[in-house]
Amino acid sequence: MNKYELRIITATGILMMSFLFSILYAAYSKKIDVPACIPYTASFKEPRVKQVDSTTFEVYAVARMWSFDPSTIELPVGATVDFYLTSNDVVHGFDIYKKGVNMMAVYGAVNKSTVKFDKPGVYKITCHEYCGAGHQNMQAEIIVNYK
Ligand code: CUA
Repeated sequence: MNKYELRIITATGILMMSFLFSILYAAYSKKIDVPACIPYTASFKEPRVKQVDSTTFEVYAVARMWSFDPSTIELPVGATVDFYLTSNDVVHGFDIYKKGVNMMAVYGAVNKSTVKFDKPGVYKITCHEYCGAGHQNMQAEIIVNYK
């Protein structure tokens, strides 16, 4: 094997290991949930926020041209939320500001991600996948406050 070939293979190996390390670091140290794709069910007919107990919530969110439903989500500080996301039409994005959530809303499929809100504030949700003429206006918000 040529020495340049060996260097390229070594550099590629180091790069791949750093990608893998980044994913594991995000998942375990930053506790960023990797979105899971689950089968579409009838529970999705109605977008809503469901309270499971005092700190656990489920949000059934539907993205459509060009809004999110529900558009305002109010939560107490310390809430742990399972977001179930789908789309009513084309592919949309679902990015929660400063929470490391980056999901896709896909018609006929449901994506799930779990997020904990430890600090009060307003967390913007924006569509980060170009979806048509109203894409830039497509947003919602999560209001986290003491209750
Ligand atoms: Cu929806 Cu961009």
